[in-house]
Amino acid sequence: MTRTILPSRTSSLARLNRVLAGKAFDNARFFVLVDENTYTHCLPRLISYVDRLQQAEFMEVPVGEECKDIAIATQLWQTLLESNADRQTILVNIGGGCITDLGGFVAAGYKRGIRYINIPTTLIGMVDAAIGGKTALNLNGSKNQVGFFHQPEIICIEPAFLNTLPDSEVLNGVFEMLKTFLIGDPVQYDRLCQMLLNGTFEIIPDMIASCAEIKTAIVKQDPRDLGIRRILNLGHTFGHAIEAYSHHNGQTPLAHGKAVGIGLICALYLSVRKLGLDPAILDRYRTVTTKLVSLPHYTLRDTEGILSYMRQDKKNANNDILCVLLQNLSAPVIDLPVPENEIRDALLKIS
Ligand code: GLY
Repeated sequence: MTRTILPSRTSSLARLNRVLAGKAFDNARFFVLVDENTYTHCLPRLISYVDRLQQAEFMEVPVGEECKDIAIATQLWQTLLESNADRQTILVNIGGGCITDLGGFVAAGYKRGIRYINIPTTLIGMVDAAIGGKTALNLNGSKNQVGFFHQPEIICIEPAFLNTLPDSEVLNGVFEMLKTFLIGDPVQYDRLCQMLLNGTFEIIPDMIASCAEIKTAIVKQDPRDLGIRRILNLGHTFGHAIEAYSHHNGQTPLAHGKAVGIGLICALYLSVRKLGLDPAILDRYRTVTTKLVSLPHYTLRDTEGILSYMRQDKKNANNDILCVLLQNLSAPVIDLPVPENEIRDALLKIS
């Protein structure tokens, strides 16, 4: 069972220090996986709090998606092997979603599975990517095509790391928070929308903790993503395709979180039409999103391009495009087949 150290009044890293001083970690040998950014901006803080990591060995990989590659995973396995890392080894992944995806994959494969700890340093990592045991590499330019389910031993969420990030990176995580609150907490959803509309948004640790708790509870019910966990994909069928299209078709490349934010408009639009969602929920969400990103105006040609990515989505079955939609706040419905003409309509009505 994963132990999650959530943001609270005392430093999460100080609490991690106490946990790692416990008996369960007596024989552990620690390796820390970083990228260039977290090596410079996050590692000094981690080591200053967590005594057991002062003797750890460090492994550095390139920043971003390029690290999620089998050649890099192989290099890391070789480093572990050459260092005589045994099954008591614990891999500590400190970084964003790319580092936790790669590190989890390496931990899952090494000697048929060693323990690992995720310390997310991005908002998207804190509220989503580092939680739930999905590990992944990219293959032939396609994201997350190979991976294992392998749950982390500990997830330590320390909001202080967010101070090392540019605002645009934090914004990516805000859209995942909106999604999580749409499916799981109407009160926090209202509060977050209000803050964003007032322009008074600052990262509130208790909101991060709520998001992490909602995701943890969903993963606990369906760790292998066979049913209910798919509610976490609200906005993602559109979002992934919008993101991929923006990277390959001479458009301004959209980051994952922003693409999901735009995809959520499509999902809510279809929810109004197909499930009778209150249109005021769509209107408010669109107003909030308009304050944060400039919404794309797609042509029919764009919709064909985006649809071609949606058809490849690994969540589709029987050639239907399956979407998660919302009947009401906190009432998501999974696996709804949506005809392509309705997908086109939703994309054309984003702005
Ligand atoms: N990010 C969706 C999931 O973990 O299932």
